[in-house]
Amino acid sequence: MTRILGISGSLRRASFNAGLLRAAAELAPEGAEVDVQGIHGVPLYDADLEAEGTPQPVLDLRAALEAADALLLVTPEYNNGIPGPFKNAIDWMASGPGADLFNGKWVALMGASPMATGAIMAQNHWLPVLRTLGTRPWFEGRLMVGRAKDKFDDKGQLTDEDTRRRVSDFMAGFAAALD
Ligand code: FNR
Repeated sequence: MTRILGISGSLRRASFNAGLLRAAAELAPEGAEVDVQGIHGVPLYDADLEAEGTPQPVLDLRAALEAADALLLVTPEYNNGIPGPFKNAIDWMASGPGADLFNGKWVALMGASPMATGAIMAQNHWLPVLRTLGTRPWFEGRLMVGRAKDKFDDKGQLTDEDTRRRVSDFMAGFAAALD
């Protein structure tokens, strides 16, 4: 079984990106399992706080990453970039002993937004971060889910059939690369 840690970078209850991650987990091919995680409870990074002890939500995310063969980042976009809370969570995870967990790990990106462009700029902004962390990016597939208000219901469930097919294809391609 290939294990993929999926992290959604939104704190919003009916988040499109959390819904996209849940769809990715549902539609992952046989032999691949997605551990659906979020960034709730991760405090703002503070080296003084870290010196007192790494917060439990960060330790939990690190443990999930250690147990995974690959990482799937599902990113919202704020002001054409990575939302601060999401970058903050990854910074915490990668701090100190966490850095090694990313090294050589396969990573894929997807994202959703109400705009037509589907968080493409945020996805691009992850690239230097992923390089710095020494990850092994999987870029054969791209998934930008634009006009998200037409594709998710009011609870954030992905209902659009065409998008679900695209998610399914993306996950099949990512899982195949991990074999
Ligand atoms: C946004 N949003 C947004 N969307 C986008 O496609 N490009 C952008 O640059 C921005 N900028 C932006 C800035 C700020 C501060 C906020 C709060 C929002 C809209 C954003 O995509 C929308 O709120 C999504 O619903 C966020 O994703 P979740 O929370 O639904 O996963």
